[in-house]
Amino acid sequence: AEALRVGIAGLGTVGASVARVLTEKAAELTRQCGREIVVTAVSARDSTRDRGVDLSAAQWFADPVELARSADIDVLVELIGGEEGPARASVTAALEAGRHVVTANKALLARHGVALAEIAEEKGILLNYEAAVAGGIPVIKTMREAMAGNTVSRVFGILNGTCNYILTRMEAEGLSFEDCLKDAQRLGYAEADPTFDIEGNDTAHKLSILTSLAFGNRIAADDIYLEGISNITQADIRAASELGYRIKLLGVALRTESGIEQRVHPTMVPTASVIAQVHGVTNAVAIETDILGELLLSGPGAGGNATASAVVGDIADIAKSRPGFQHGPVFGRPAKELQPYRKAR
Ligand code: HSE
Repeated sequence: AEALRVGIAGLGTVGASVARVLTEKAAELTRQCGREIVVTAVSARDSTRDRGVDLSAAQWFADPVELARSADIDVLVELIGGEEGPARASVTAALEAGRHVVTANKALLARHGVALAEIAEEKGILLNYEAAVAGGIPVIKTMREAMAGNTVSRVFGILNGTCNYILTRMEAEGLSFEDCLKDAQRLGYAEADPTFDIEGNDTAHKLSILTSLAFGNRIAADDIYLEGISNITQADIRAASELGYRIKLLGVALRTESGIEQRVHPTMVPTASVIAQVHGVTNAVAIETDILGELLLSGPGAGGNATASAVVGDIADIAKSRPGFQHGPVFGRPAKELQPYRKAR
């Protein structure tokens, strides 16, 4: 089979990791997918920076939208970030041009996911976004593919690696909030604007995507009760600990009789509970259903390699798909059939 031609837009922490994994694991990926995966084009602001990978054979585009429309790619991998601007423009352009898209952009999907899914479904192409929620944890594939027939009653978890890293180190080492945040930024966990992490918006973006998969509703990221961790002090952490609790930033979505409830806030969880044992940049997602019962997935939630793992998995899916194959709907059911969001009273 012909090689799958990949265009990467955005070569920050995640983009550079993806390019490295695709290069270093090329032989393994070819064996697994039955065809080669080649980075034929890239777009980034700085073309001179050393990213630890040789991209000299790739075509460089200053404008990611031009990259998205290029006839020399089969897949656009959007790793720019942000809900508008070049991220939205390039993803839209790629889908409209009939190119598959892989994105890690939770903000974009939380805001425009349903509209983008409609284009992908109309064109019969793939819009894959495993890396957008809980980093390397394969929660999207689990909910979209492996849990068919299940009725979900509740989904909740630790969805932001930066916050969990900060809370863990504040408790274990007595460090200040600011020092922990700086380290999270240095390690490539935090968003470009870390306010999104610490005020809970990033958790809300991810939760709104999980809610849609769980309950079949249109994504409603603005209808989430939101409280971040920026006001959590050492005193709060000590007080919780004396009572036998840990503070975790949780995203919670559940179905009630009056509608769907979605909230993000610091939560006291019993120290002995499984969720309290989720440390550092690790994320965890709990899903409760009628057939399966309770499922808990945990794993690396942020960082270049963990996120790249999910992105590469999504690219491999596309490499394995065959022309004419009918792809499943982006959010588990056709975008046009997603129910209007009904907020619990
Ligand atoms: N800033 C995000 C986090 C990156 O800390 O979880 C992964 O989405």
